[in-house]
Amino acid sequence: MLIIEVCVGSSCYLRGAPEVIASLQKLIVEHAPGRIEIKGTFCLEKCTQQGVTVRFQGRVFPGVEPGEETQLFEKEILPALSAEPE
Ligand code: FES
Repeated sequence: MLIIEVCVGSSCYLRGAPEVIASLQKLIVEHAPGRIEIKGTFCLEKCTQQGVTVRFQGRVFPGVEPGEETQLFEKEILPALSAEPE
């Protein structure tokens, strides 16, 4: 099981964390149901002027704007998924 952590600290929450989580959940259902879990996390100390901070496999992606999560999913998460045993 892969885990995506989405910051739900106050800054990220206001900058769209709920929308990013909802969109990631849809992508997981479409591409990898039951193989990826989303967890909320407190401030990852990468608050930016825009977007939400996401952590995946120890890598931190700050500034993910609602609408950009598909790109993150396709570029970073799907390749990692194909390396994971089902
Ligand atoms: S509130 Fe998300 S990185 Fe600080």
